[in-house]
Amino acid sequence: MAKSKIQFICQNCGSAFPRWSGKCDGCGDWNTLSEESPDTGIGANPGKTLSKGSPVKLVSLAGNVEEAPRIASGIKELDRATGGGFVQGSALLVGGDPGIGKSTLLMQASATIARQGHSVVYVSGEEAVAQVRLRAKRLGAIEANVGLAAETSVENIIATLETGPPPALVIIDSIQTLWTNQAPSAPGTVTQVRNSAQAMIAYAKKTGACVVLVGHVTKEGQIAGPRVVEHMVDAVMYFEGESGHHYRILRTVKNRYGPTDEIGIFEMSDKGLREVSNPSELFLGERNASAPGAAVFAGIEGTRPVLVEIQALVVQSTLGTPRRAVVGWDNSRLSMVLAVLEAHCGIRLGDHDVYLNVAGGYRIVEPAADLAVAAALVSSLCNAALPSDAVYFGEVSLSGAVRPVSQFAQRIKEAGKLGFTRATTPKPTGSKENTASIDLHPVTELTGLVAQIAAGKGAAGVAKAG
Ligand code: TYD
Ligand code: MG
Repeated sequence: MAKSKIQFICQNCGSAFPRWSGKCDGCGDWNTLSEESPDTGIGANPGKTLSKGSPVKLVSLAGNVEEAPRIASGIKELDRATGGGFVQGSALLVGGDPGIGKSTLLMQASATIARQGHSVVYVSGEEAVAQVRLRAKRLGAIEANVGLAAETSVENIIATLETGPPPALVIIDSIQTLWTNQAPSAPGTVTQVRNSAQAMIAYAKKTGACVVLVGHVTKEGQIAGPRVVEHMVDAVMYFEGESGHHYRILRTVKNRYGPTDEIGIFEMSDKGLREVSNPSELFLGERNASAPGAAVFAGIEGTRPVLVEIQALVVQSTLGTPRRAVVGWDNSRLSMVLAVLEAHCGIRLGDHDVYLNVAGGYRIVEPAADLAVAAALVSSLCNAALPSDAVYFGEVSLSGAVRPVSQFAQRIKEAGKLGFTRATTPKPTGSKENTASIDLHPVTELTGLVAQIAAGKGAAGVAKAG
C-alpha cells in the first residue's frame, strides 16, 4: 500500500495544498492551513477508479407531492424562522457567537417538543450532564422528558440513538466537538467536522429524525472552520445579537423547506429566552424623540414590518481622514449615501466624523433604509430634530433619485399602528386606501428630503451646512 499522503487543508475554506504556507491561496486567509490526512472519509482518493454501481429507478417529476412533515416547537418566533417547525428527516445548522444563547434556545425547544410527547435527545459535547441539568432547571425545563448525554464520539452517539426507535429531534451541541474514527485528524478540524456532520446528516435522512447541529461562528462571521457544513445541511440559521443588548435574532440564511427572509426575535432574560412578538415596540422603546440625528425607519423583515430608530452623529473632525463608524448597517452603503448627499444636495461631510447606529443592537440589511439614514445624517448636521411622528423609507440611487421599495402599504400600516402620522417615502405604489392612515410626503429626489428637513427648521440650518 502506498504511504498515506499528508495534505494541508485550509480550516476556513477547505482548500487542500500539498505544502504548508502562511497564506491560503484559496480564500486569502492567513495561518489557516493545518495538516490532515486526506485518504479517509467522503471524497477521498479521487484518483481511484469507481467500482461498478447499480442503477437507480428514475421517477417522473410530476408525482405526488407531500408537505414535509414538521414538528412545531410551539415557540412562535422559532417556528417562524424555521418556516413552521422542525422538518422530519432534515438537518439544521444553528450558528452563532459563543455565549449568544444557542444552547439555551435549543434546550427550551427540546423541552416544549418533549412536552408534546415526542422523543428528544440532547447531546452535549461541551458541557457535563450536571451543567446541562442546571441550565434546564433555570429554564423550567427540568421535568420535560428529554434524553440527555454528554458525548463527543459520533460512533457512540449513533449507537446510542440506534438502541431505540429514532427520536423526533436530536440536538448536537456542538458540531465542533464531535469526532469520528473515520478521520484521523483532531476534533474541530475541517475533516473531522465534515465527516461527523456527514454521519449525523446521514442518520437524519435514514431515520426521519430532525438533527440540529450547533456551530460556533468565528469573528469573521463564518461558522468556524467548515463552511462545507453549510452546503450539507437543509437549513442554516444564525443566532445573533449585540453583547450588552438583550435582543437576540434568529436569522434564516438557507432553508430548503421554507422562506429564508424570516427572523425570530427573542429577549434574553434570567429565565431564558422570551419571544418578542412586537419587535417595533421593543426597538422604539427607549426613544428620545426630540433629539437631533434620530430617524425612524419603517423596515420589513420577511413578511413582518419592523420599525427601528437610526441614530446619526455628525461632528467636526479633528483627524486628517474623518472617521466613519457604523453599527448595524453596511459601511459601504453609508459611504454611498454620504457621496450622494455631497454630489446632489451640496451637503459636504468631508471634514466631519460620521457615526451611525441602529438602536437596540438590530442589524438592517434592506437598501430601503437609505432615506432614513440620509434623514438622520442631515438632521444631526443641521442640529434639527426630525418630527417625532414621522417615519422614513426609500432606496437612494447614485443619481440622487429616491427609488420605490417593496411592501409600501405594509410599512405604512405598521407605522400607523404605532402612532406615527406622517411618512417620507418614495412615490407611492399600490392602492391609496391602504395608506390612508398616514400623511404621505413622497420625495422623488434626495434634495426633496433635505428641503423638507430645512423647511421644518427654517431654511438657515441647511443653508449654513451647504
Ligand atoms: P448559552 O445558551 O450557553 O450560549 P451558547 O450556547 O450560544 O454559547 O447562553 C449563555 C449566556 O446566556 C450566558 O452568558 C448566560 C445567559 N443566560 C441568561 O441570561 N439567562 C438564562 O436563563 C440562561 C440559561 C442563560
Ligand atoms: Mg452552548
